[in-house]
Amino acid sequence: MADIESLLKEKRSFKPSAEFVKNANWNKRTVDEYRKLGAKNPERFWAKMAKENVSWFTPWKKVLQWKPPAAKWFVGGKLNVSYNCLDRHLVGENAWRRNKAAIIWEGEPGDTRVLTFGELHREVCKFANVLKGLGVKKGNRIALYMPMIPELAIATLACTRIGAIHSVVFGGFSAEALRDRIEDAGAHVVVTADGGYRKGVPHALKPAVDEAVAGLDVVEHVVVVKRTGEEVAWESARDHWWHDLMQEASAKCAPAKLDSEHPLFILYTSGTTGKPKGILHTTGGYLTHVTTTAKALFDLNETDTYWCTADIGWITGHSYVIYGILANGVTSLMYEGVPTHPAPDRFWDIIERHRVSIFYTAPTAIRTFVRLGDEHPQKHDLSSLRLLGSVGEPINPEAWMWYHRIIGGRRCPIVDTWWQTETGGIMITPLPAATETKPGSATLPFPGIDADVYTEEGVPANPPDGGFLVIKKPWPGMLRGIWGDPERFKETYWSKYENTYFAGDGAHRDSKGYFWIMGRIDDVMNISGHRIGTMEVESALVSNVKVAESAVVGRPDEITGTAIVAFVTPKGGVTSNDDLARELREHVAKHIGAIARPADIRFTDALPKTRSGKIMRRLLRDIASGKETVGDTSTLEDYSVIARLREADEG
Ligand code: WT7
Repeated sequence: MADIESLLKEKRSFKPSAEFVKNANWNKRTVDEYRKLGAKNPERFWAKMAKENVSWFTPWKKVLQWKPPAAKWFVGGKLNVSYNCLDRHLVGENAWRRNKAAIIWEGEPGDTRVLTFGELHREVCKFANVLKGLGVKKGNRIALYMPMIPELAIATLACTRIGAIHSVVFGGFSAEALRDRIEDAGAHVVVTADGGYRKGVPHALKPAVDEAVAGLDVVEHVVVVKRTGEEVAWESARDHWWHDLMQEASAKCAPAKLDSEHPLFILYTSGTTGKPKGILHTTGGYLTHVTTTAKALFDLNETDTYWCTADIGWITGHSYVIYGILANGVTSLMYEGVPTHPAPDRFWDIIERHRVSIFYTAPTAIRTFVRLGDEHPQKHDLSSLRLLGSVGEPINPEAWMWYHRIIGGRRCPIVDTWWQTETGGIMITPLPAATETKPGSATLPFPGIDADVYTEEGVPANPPDGGFLVIKKPWPGMLRGIWGDPERFKETYWSKYENTYFAGDGAHRDSKGYFWIMGRIDDVMNISGHRIGTMEVESALVSNVKVAESAVVGRPDEITGTAIVAFVTPKGGVTSNDDLARELREHVAKHIGAIARPADIRFTDALPKTRSGKIMRRLLRDIASGKETVGDTSTLEDYSVIARLREADEG
């Protein structure tokens, strides 16, 4: 409730600049027209977008087949994603794009590579042939566990060329997390690198792959890019160097004509149970959604240099580093490393040197920059920027204002974009030439998207009351399922309200209908814009022999948005001290990845539970964030537990 009220006090608003109103892809009139059409007949709107923004080998017969919760978009249509991102920029009136930069890449040590659309096409065709040579067939799953290097984009596009399904696993995940994902997807081939660079040093990946696939019979081939040159262990029957395979490969590979509903990729994301969910996306609807939104809300132009700082290991990198950007024929900048290496101005230096015009990043990064000080961006000429974006979590109004003033020079519109791994593409967002923005609000649904805020009873909440964010009609980029688990798909997203998608976020609308997203309402924490399930961290903790029980909650953190606090009950006879806390933090990092490492470990002899044995996380959340315990505690089995936890807190 406190969050709702503080946001409601936000009175500042910003009208689209004259510059944008004059030149935008979608001006105010277009947006009005599309909003009307999207509300009246979303299928007609999306069909228009699919025709305008995507190239099809065979037109669809039916725009939408909706048997809740199963949606099929552009039924009967045939297309290829890599054709849309590459080939179509090499022919006809766009043929000149052959020598235009598709990817401008910068490694953390400062090395750079530019791949034109022509070169990227060649590399993708070659790697598609490499995959075929390894026996990969349409529908096979390929795990990609790589640093942010061009080969990662090449590998994803090569999969789409032949209809293989990629499953990108973020390079920050541990061997164990990788193993679970490879196993769940049944991936025969893993593509990796010896390592990548992070914070000035090589960060090895191949050893994690070796550990992950040891004894996993399903994996037949591991392809390794040489990036750092560090020594790696080698299993000659299984491992292949990328450069060896590529040397032999032909650069001719016709794009497969794939069904609109052919699976495009699986991407794992956290849920409320320990097991991550393999979110499945398909071809035609997804590509239509990401290509259309990118063109409209980033206002992509032929001359833009667009930079999204997300790792390709997350959905943002899939949709808005690769597919939505390249499909528009626009130059996408890719950076390998951390924002602050070798100095706190690395990002601003990149923007100045490459004359970046559109910049898309996360609130957690913005808050880090606020803390580092204005002098770093102010050392650089950022006048090439014309639009800024934010994604991953609610952006606090003060961070928004800083972004607007210091990075945007008060001239760049900010698009605060709400969406999820499951939605595939952006759902709620300003349109830069049409929407008056308010710091902290993602504003309005994209045309053709029917979003609302529901009460517990499933009726629209009365502004300014809060409720649950829902999507009332299917949309083209929506997930088609959870890999191998149709029941969980129904249960998680479609069981709370009938035929309505339940996003799992709290939100409310103001008198203008603007959406204010308040964050997750389930037991999923948003750490630096990435979802981590409390259960996952708890499972990792109790897998340590010294731990009897644990409960994990989030507390507000100035930089990462949420920080992980783990309440841990050690087994009898175990001494709880700083060493154990350190050991457990590392234990979690090893089992899941550094992103899930708890900020605090708190030892306790008991956890607050209801009489039926459910841990009362709400109480733990209050304690973790230093708040008074409010609300009902009558179901608590033993109130003294809370008193003891509080005492420990004060002590
Ligand atoms: C969750 C989805 C979408 C790509 C990155 C995260 C939160 C995302 C916003 C925003 C407020 C946001 C939500 C959502 N979120 N964008 N602009 N304002 N909250 O993808 O890991 O699937 O997480 O991130 O809580 O449900 P994800």
